[in-house]
Amino acid sequence: MGEFIIEGGRPLRGSLQVQGAKNSVLPILAATILHSGVSVLHHCPRLRDVDASIRILRQLGCRADWEGDDLVVDASTMVCSQIPDHLMREMRSSVIFLGAILSRCGEAELSLPGGCELGPRPIDLHLAALRQLGAEIDEGGGRLHCRAGDMCGREITLSIPSVGATENALLTACGCEGVTTIFNAAREPEIDDLQRFLRAMGHQVQGAGTSVVTVAGRSPTHDLEHTVMPDRIVAATYLAAVAAAGGEVELKGVDYRHLSTVIAALHEAGCRIHSTGSAVLLRSTGELKGVRPIRTAPYPGFPTDAQAVLMASLLKSKGTTVFVENIFENRYRHVDELCRMGADIRVEGRVAVVCGVERLRGAAVEATDLRGGAAMVVAALSAEGRSRIGSIHHVQRGYENIVGDLSALGACISLEA
Ligand code: UD1
Repeated sequence: MGEFIIEGGRPLRGSLQVQGAKNSVLPILAATILHSGVSVLHHCPRLRDVDASIRILRQLGCRADWEGDDLVVDASTMVCSQIPDHLMREMRSSVIFLGAILSRCGEAELSLPGGCELGPRPIDLHLAALRQLGAEIDEGGGRLHCRAGDMCGREITLSIPSVGATENALLTACGCEGVTTIFNAAREPEIDDLQRFLRAMGHQVQGAGTSVVTVAGRSPTHDLEHTVMPDRIVAATYLAAVAAAGGEVELKGVDYRHLSTVIAALHEAGCRIHSTGSAVLLRSTGELKGVRPIRTAPYPGFPTDAQAVLMASLLKSKGTTVFVENIFENRYRHVDELCRMGADIRVEGRVAVVCGVERLRGAAVEATDLRGGAAMVVAALSAEGRSRIGSIHHVQRGYENIVGDLSALGACISLEA
């Protein structure tokens, strides 16, 4: 399965191009089936979850192949509207195929998506949104049987601005006759990227980035090319790593507006940060101070996905920082592992209190989940001595080449099989 071996205590220097966004490309891959033709994706990250999406697309009868750095999907050969259980279990975002298949085929059959390490992650909002559009959904034996029923454009309201439910509703609405308006939509930049993709395909979608998104109804589609947006969470991870280890790094191909809350926290912690339209430069002495409470919230609030890596960067800060995790119930599993390195963190329900310590010591730890694993890497880079990080398959779900990227910045990190 492999481990990351990290010798901490080295500053990071240099510049880096940030990979395409996992949370953007996965719904976009589902959306490729809305067009019976070819979609070319540039800047597509090579990730395990992307491989899982490719397997689903092929199962549906589509062609999906890498051509250099591009991923080319031809959905003209799609024949099937069912996804078998073993493919659905591979990742949670497989559920976004529900709206896409329903939109294309008028029916869909799939099982509940893969389990998740962040506590309960129901799909009730996804199903409620599709039902509001008129879809008929039977649940039984872990399978979902969906038919278009009297599906047509309508006004629908999400009770929580869920990212996944917004994406599923959006893809379903593209297959409906008539105008759909989604109220209380998620405002994450990845929704905006999905909108750009759908527009390039010919769909008339607007409002992404605000809480009201509209789709004009079924539209003729055509072949398209799309460049996947940069991954703001990977960028946040590398900024947190430089903040903790010290040094000076420029991240290229990043939209700093997507990172404003993370940048504000790192600035408050004592980092010097300069951002232009498409690059962020961070300078850190590695000596940070605690910051005001960090409360995770839907975009544009502080991203839950960056909570663990920011926490890892503040373990040696002077003072205390309080974290409040408002999105997921079980998102502090990295805490016990960080404490093995000498961190002082106390958790009570949704609140974690980090008291800065003098030093961290390298240790053998486990990646508990994707971002928790990234937090382990950040902490190990600022710890004294050697760390071994196990269960790195979690990290590889979201980071294309974390070892290569950090090595290029001067970190002493390797992958041991
Ligand atoms: C997406 C991201 C994930 C990120 C999260 C928050 C993808 C594939 N995943 O997840 O990496 O951490 O946004 O930015 O893009 N909820 C329900 N019922 C539902 C759906 C959600 O109760 O049907 C709840 C969730 O449990 C959670 C909250 O709503 O408490 C927000 O979840 P949501 O925005 O849907 O996150 P995901 O789409 O699962």
